[in-house]
Amino acid sequence: MASYLQIADDEKGHELDLFCIPRHYENDLDKVIIPHGLIMDRTERLARDIIQDMGGHHIVALCVLKGGYKFFADLLDYIKALNQNSDKSVPLTVDFIRVKSYCNDESTNSVKVIGGDELSNLRGKNVLIVEDIVETGRTMQTLLSLLGECHPKMVKVVSLLVKRTPRSSGYRPDYIGFEVPDAFLVGYALDYNEYFRDLSHICILNDRAKEKYKVINKERPLRCNGVQEESFVSPFD
Ligand code: IMP
Ligand code: MG
Repeated sequence: MASYLQIADDEKGHELDLFCIPRHYENDLDKVIIPHGLIMDRTERLARDIIQDMGGHHIVALCVLKGGYKFFADLLDYIKALNQNSDKSVPLTVDFIRVKSYCNDESTNSVKVIGGDELSNLRGKNVLIVEDIVETGRTMQTLLSLLGECHPKMVKVVSLLVKRTPRSSGYRPDYIGFEVPDAFLVGYALDYNEYFRDLSHICILNDRAKEKYKVINKERPLRCNGVQEESFVSPFD
């Protein structure tokens, strides 16, 4: 079983005033729940664990966009540092895939792969899937079954966060950074309708912000979980 840092349900988090938060998000957040520095420290250890288990062979690191991009970049920097500073080193290449399953703060029932590299390139490879957060587990289970059709040699999954939720299918990644309460989290590339990726710390979104940044498209509600991007008026305009 993967070990992880547990953020308890009654964790109070940290006051926003104690950290640097972009002005444009000051009224949208409840608390800082995982400061950026702690994310980095935990990521450094995940890099070490992954290299100890998967090391020795070429690894293809597959970034699940968009939410995974910050974690992916930082995790790979730590793996690079290990490669540069030890006797053993592991060749690493990168691939990207884009999936979408969320609208507002709810998981839609469809998980869509909407771009990225050809999964068939992964045949015979040792693949490390890098994800931001696992909630129901549906996105990862869909991705794993798609990947299985391409016959990689080995697949491991690292997720920075796993949410404790009754909606979970029971799926658990091989490596987990933090287990978090059942709240909607933003920051460090996790978004709410594309906002908050430009926030360094992982924070809890407040209810007012859920309304402020909500995607409302009464005429064409299906666009919400469709392939194309939603068009909506920016709350900053
Ligand atoms: P799952 O398929 O329910 O496991 O959801 C996984 C995907 O939903 C993640 O890759 C995220 O993109 C998104 N997601 C789930 N929970 C959150 C959250 O609290 N904040 C931001 N995105 C989330
Ligand atoms: Mg994701």
